[in-house]
Amino acid sequence: MSTPAEQGLSLHHITVRFGGLVALDDVSLRVPPGRVVGVIGPNGAGKTTLFNVICGFAAPQSGAITLDGKPFKPRPHHLSRHGIARTLQGVGQFDGMTVLDNILVGIRDHRPTSEEAHEALDRCGVGEFANAYPASLPYATRKRVELARALASRPRILMLDEPAGGLDGEEIDWLAELIRTIETTVLLVEHHMDLVMSVCDEILVLDFGKPIALGSPGEIRGNEKVTEAYLGTAA
Ligand SMILES: Nc1ncnc2c1ncn2[C@@H]1O[C@H](COP(=O)(O)OP(=O)(O)OP(=O)(O)O)[C@@H](O)[C@H]1O
Ligand SMILES: [Mg+2]
Repeated sequence: MSTPAEQGLSLHHITVRFGGLVALDDVSLRVPPGRVVGVIGPNGAGKTTLFNVICGFAAPQSGAITLDGKPFKPRPHHLSRHGIARTLQGVGQFDGMTVLDNILVGIRDHRPTSEEAHEALDRCGVGEFANAYPASLPYATRKRVELARALASRPRILMLDEPAGGLDGEEIDWLAELIRTIETTVLLVEHHMDLVMSVCDEILVLDFGKPIALGSPGEIRGNEKVTEAYLGTAA
């Protein structure tokens, strides 16, 4: 049995290099069950790389990942077996298949039943589009389908990479409500600060691959290093 402190997903001193570039520099993070943990930082800070490490798309040069205290060696096609699902930055659906088929093919080793797929679409408010083709749908609807695809496997950890990207205020409010009410651990990468601040229990801030702050939304908002990192990008 793992102790309460070990429950959930943990990154321990992860470093990822691409040639001479250090995309993640000694990053540690704990994602406890039931929590919403945010990862923010300027463009190129390493947020997607961090997701890719957890999903097995990027191999760290050093560090370790544990799931409930046990060593976890991620492989992309085994993720759902471990109860992890992710949405992709953007939309990422096959245009030649219906919305429903996109959800049914999405997962290799844990195919949702048709009932689970419909349930996930309904949960995301897009049940009526099950037989539509993604290309015929507005961007915001496709983003909801992408969420439904991830939820259909009934993950215990849901990883969202910029789910608010390209959405208007009303859609972002809907998304915030979903994240708040969902009974799943959430790891959220997002540029939209209002969303991050309103849904996250804890936030990790990366800058050029380095963790520069970790804390509650209140703590992050008042953090000078964080302000500097973002002003540095603007300038
Ligand atoms: N496969 C790769 N090969 C080489 N460099 C890479 C690779 N993937 C990412 N990088 C580099 O690593 C750094 C971190 O990239 P990453 O995509 O993780 O940033 P990000 O925080 O997700 O940025 P954004 O906010 O723009 O999505 C960047 O400098 C990027 O160019
Ligand atoms: Mg990214």
